[in-house]
Amino acid sequence: MASTSNIQEDPEYILPEPNSEVQRLTDNDSVFAYSMKNKRILAPIDLTKPGLKILDSATADGLFLRSIEPLLAPPFTLSGFDIMTKFFPSSAPPHITYAIHNITEKWPVEMHKQYDFVHQRICLLGVEKKVTPRQAVSYLCDLVAPGGWIQLGELDLRQPSFGGQAMFDAFELKRRVFDAVCGFHDIAESMSTWLREEGFEQVTEEPYEIQLGSRCNDAAMRKKSIDATVQSWEALLGAANRFDADVDASTTDRLLERMKAELSENGASYTMQYAYGRRPLST
Ligand SMILES: C[S@@+](CC[C@H](N)C(=O)[O-])C[C@H]1O[C@@H](n2cnc3c(N)ncnc32)[C@H](O)[C@@H]1O
Repeated sequence: MASTSNIQEDPEYILPEPNSEVQRLTDNDSVFAYSMKNKRILAPIDLTKPGLKILDSATADGLFLRSIEPLLAPPFTLSGFDIMTKFFPSSAPPHITYAIHNITEKWPVEMHKQYDFVHQRICLLGVEKKVTPRQAVSYLCDLVAPGGWIQLGELDLRQPSFGGQAMFDAFELKRRVFDAVCGFHDIAESMSTWLREEGFEQVTEEPYEIQLGSRCNDAAMRKKSIDATVQSWEALLGAANRFDADVDASTTDRLLERMKAELSENGASYTMQYAYGRRPLST
C-alpha cells in the first residue's frame, strides 16, 4: 500500500466500530446529498476541462471520488488518502488510487501545487492533539496548484439549526468530544479565515441545512437519517468515554432514546459548513 508516511498498520479509530463505519459514512453521505440536492463540488471549477487532478483527503472508501466521477471529462486522475487502509476499496480502476496519509503530517514536497481540486470533509477531529486543525489545513493547502481550488466541509457545532432538547444535548456532547480529542470545536466557522490567511482568494462560505427525521419528505430518507444520526451519536458517546470528555450526566442520560423519539416526531436539522477558495495564479 502506497504511503506518504512511515505508518505500517491502521491506527486505532477515534470513533468505535470501525467495521461498520463505511456503511455509516455511506448513509450519512446520502443524508447530506438529499439536503444538498446531490451537489458535492461547490467550488466553481470547470469540470469539463480534461486532465483534472483531484485529491480527496480522509477519503474513507473513496465515496466522494466515485460520486463525482460521472461529472468529469476524461482523462482525469483521482487520488484518495486516509489513515484507515481497511476502508479502501479492494480494487480500483487505474485512474483512481488510494494511499495512506495522516493529515497531521506535511504532504510530500513532490505533491505540492499539483492538484486542480483538493477536497476534505469531516476529518479535522482526527488531528487529535498532534497538530492544530489550523495546521492540518495549512498542510492541505500546499497541495493546490496555482489557479486550483480547495474545498473543506465540517459540521457547524455551535448548535443545531432546528431541534429540541435531545438535539441540543447531542451538540453539547459533540463539542465536548471535540474539546477532549483535539482541544478545539470552532472548526467550521474558522475554515474560511484560515483559507484567507493561507493566501487563497475568492474564499466563500456555503452553509447547508441538513434535514433529519420527520423534516425529510421522502419516507426512506426519514428512516435513514434517523438511523445514521443515532449511530453517529452512539459512536460519539463511545469516544466521550474513551477520551474522558467533560460532559454532564444529564446531557448523555438516555440520549440516543431521546434523539430517536425527537427525530421521529418533530425532526431536526443541523448545518454543514463548507468553505472553498482558489490559490492565486501567481503563487
Ligand atoms: C467521519 S469520516 C469522513 C469520511 C469522508 N470524508 C466523508 O465525508 O464521508 C472521517 C475520515 O477521516 C479519516 N481520518 C481520521 N483521522 C485522520 C487523520 N489523522 N489523517 C487522515 N485521515 C484521518 C478516517 O479514517 C475517516 O475515513
